[in-house]
Amino acid sequence: MYLRDCWYVAGWSKQIGQRLTPVRMLGEDIVLFRTSTGEIGALEDACPHRKLPLSKGSLRDDTVVCGYHGLTFNHHGACVAAPTQERVPTGAAVRRYPAIERYGFVWLWMGAADQADESKLISIENYDAPGWGRTEGGDMPIACNYLYIVDNLLDPAHVAWVHVGSFAGAKTESQPLRIDVNSDGVVVWRWMMDTPAPAYYAPLIKFEGLVDRKQHYECVLPSIGINKSIFSPAGHGGPDKPLHDKTYINISYNFMTPVDEDNSRYYWFQHRNTDPDDAAISERMNAGAVMAFTEDREVLEAVHLGMKQRKTPYLDLALDAGALRFRKLLKARIEAETAQAAA
Ligand code: FES
Ligand SMILES: [Fe+2]
Repeated sequence: MYLRDCWYVAGWSKQIGQRLTPVRMLGEDIVLFRTSTGEIGALEDACPHRKLPLSKGSLRDDTVVCGYHGLTFNHHGACVAAPTQERVPTGAAVRRYPAIERYGFVWLWMGAADQADESKLISIENYDAPGWGRTEGGDMPIACNYLYIVDNLLDPAHVAWVHVGSFAGAKTESQPLRIDVNSDGVVVWRWMMDTPAPAYYAPLIKFEGLVDRKQHYECVLPSIGINKSIFSPAGHGGPDKPLHDKTYINISYNFMTPVDEDNSRYYWFQHRNTDPDDAAISERMNAGAVMAFTEDREVLEAVHLGMKQRKTPYLDLALDAGALRFRKLLKARIEAETAQAAA
């Protein structure tokens, strides 16, 4: 089950051109393309005649031509030509998915097209703010249910075991977690005071000495992870203090698109409040992210299989509290959406 009345990342804008690109999202096959005027077409990847995937056809003059008998559709999904007969069959159309492009991504609305609501797209703070830099980002397939990735992104504790060489460090294995729940998501957070900066961040921080470090692990419905790593000079951090002017903020944005119940596509980029134009820093951050997410992937794919094939009961730990709250929130939203659709 998925939340449908929301936007999911379908791909990077730069990768969607004037050609047919098949993607699978929420168990549905979709064909993406760009028209000569730059608009995105996102159609069900199935011809309404005999369900040949439209992505096996061709893109001609901004229309998709089926590769079996030539039924032709524009980017709104309307059938505009049926070359084997005199007239276009009445009502011939293919499902269209509303699309928008923002933050470097193509986003699709997976609910009813007439419910598409641009205001429901996440707003990324400081995206174009001067003084902030961001990485190119990346993506990878992960053979697990998307909610295991969400669990992982609401779990600051795992870094002490999974990311030993990068994000781990003093106190990540033991400091207690705090949880805030709001109507759109969950934040799991903690401050770790007076500790050395972890290996990945140390060269990026603009002050010397020990740090007060905050892990802010936030997930927003349906499945967007916002992980903020905040480092203030020791003595200047903590929940009740304003941010010091040398505070380093590194935000990892993570967008999980369910492919189906057993597979996900994971997209990300990193954002920082320093060195806006330093390509070397961006590259190093991106390489660090790829390394860490590869470590996560190995664990998460094995967790997915382990949970699916389990022979004995599993248990939850205190560290799961945030992820369990998120799953509960998501379930309630899906149920409300389903009830509304039935009414
Ligand atoms: S299957 Fe597409 S036109 Fe026949
Ligand atoms: Fe991780």
